[in-house]
Amino acid sequence: MALKVGMLTSGGDAQGLNSTMRGVSRALWNDDPETKIFGFLNGYYGLMHSSYRHMHDYDFSGILTLGGTILGTSRQPFKIVNDPLYDDQPEGITRLEAMIQTYNDLSLDALVVLGGGGTQKTANLLSLGGCNIIHLPKTIDNDLSGTDLTFGFQSAVNIATEVIDGIHTTATSHGRVFIVELMGNRVGWLALHAGVASGADVILIPEIPYNPIKVVQALQVREKEKKRFSIIAIAEGAKSIEEVNMDEDELKEYRKNTHSVAYHLQNQLEELMIQEIRVCVPGHFQRGGTPSAFDRILTTKLGVEAANAVIEGDFGKMIGVAGQKMIRVPLQEIAGNTKRVSLDDPVILAARKMGVFFGD
Ligand code: F6P
Repeated sequence: MALKVGMLTSGGDAQGLNSTMRGVSRALWNDDPETKIFGFLNGYYGLMHSSYRHMHDYDFSGILTLGGTILGTSRQPFKIVNDPLYDDQPEGITRLEAMIQTYNDLSLDALVVLGGGGTQKTANLLSLGGCNIIHLPKTIDNDLSGTDLTFGFQSAVNIATEVIDGIHTTATSHGRVFIVELMGNRVGWLALHAGVASGADVILIPEIPYNPIKVVQALQVREKEKKRFSIIAIAEGAKSIEEVNMDEDELKEYRKNTHSVAYHLQNQLEELMIQEIRVCVPGHFQRGGTPSAFDRILTTKLGVEAANAVIEGDFGKMIGVAGQKMIRVPLQEIAGNTKRVSLDDPVILAARKMGVFFGD
C-alpha cells in the first residue's frame, strides 16, 4: 500500500544513522514504490517547522558506509528553550503541538524517528498525541532499555579500542600511566567494552564509584610486578566515592573546574604517586566515521523491521534487539528508562577474573 512516511534523526549523531534510513526506505519502497518519504531536517526542529525534503531512491544510494546523518540532527527541542537558535518557536502553540500539527497537515501515515533517550521520550509524547510512531534506538552509549544493543555502540567500541591499542605503545615505551577518557556520561558500556577489548588495566565507570587511593594501590602492584605501564579506561561520567552524592555545582567546585574527569583523576593520582601520567580524550572522534560491519548489518535489520512495523500498522514501538531477534517494544514501557551496566554483567565478571581493577 502506498504510504506517506516521515523520517528524522535526532540527538547526538552516531554511526549507522544513514544505513538505518537506507534500510527503512528500501524496504518501504520494496513493498510499494509509490510510498512517499518525507525527510525532516535537523531532527525534531524540522518537524516543528515543517522543514523537510521529499526523499528519492538515489538519496539513499551510496550511504551505507557514510557516517553522520544526511538529514542533519539537533538535540531534542524541549531542553533548549532559551537557545537563540530556537527563538522562532511557532507562536501560540507548544513545540509538541507544532510537531503534531505538521504530522497532521502532511497527512502522514507514520513517522520513523532515529535517536537516543531524549528522542525516545519525545517520540512517546508524539505517540500519545496521536501520531503513528516507530523509534529506532541509536546511541554510542548503549543505554536504552528494552534492547540488548543500540546502533552506533559497536562502531564506537571499535574506535575506542583502537585508540587504547595505539596508546599502549607509547605507554610501554615511556613506562607511563595513561588515562583514556571515553564517552558515556551516565553509563559505562563503552568504557567497559573498549577497556576489556584493549586490555585496559583499570576500568572506571559511573556504575561503580572509584576510590582514588585504591586505584593508586592497583597501579603500584603493577609496578612491583615489573609492568612498566598502566592503562586506565574511564567513562566521562565516572565519579569517585566522595563525589557520588554531590550535585552538579558541588562537583564542579570539588573538581576545581578541571576540564573533564580524566584530568581530575590525573590530579588525584599525581598527588599520590610519582609515575608519569598522561591523559587522552578522543571525544567526538568516537561518534565519527563509517559504521562497523556489525553496525551495518544491525542497522539494515533494524531498518527493515521498522518498515515491516509501518506496513503492518504496528505503532508506538521501539524496534529493539534480543539476542539474534528483532523485537518491538511499546514506547510507553521504556521511554525515559536508562539501561545501566549491572555489577554482575558477564563482561565485568570476566574482567575481574582477568585482574582488571574497577576502582572499588
Ligand atoms: O549520548 C551520546 C554522547 O556522545 C554522550 O556519550 C556524550 O556525553 C554526549 O553525547 C555528548 O554530547 P554532545 O555531542 O552534545 O557534546
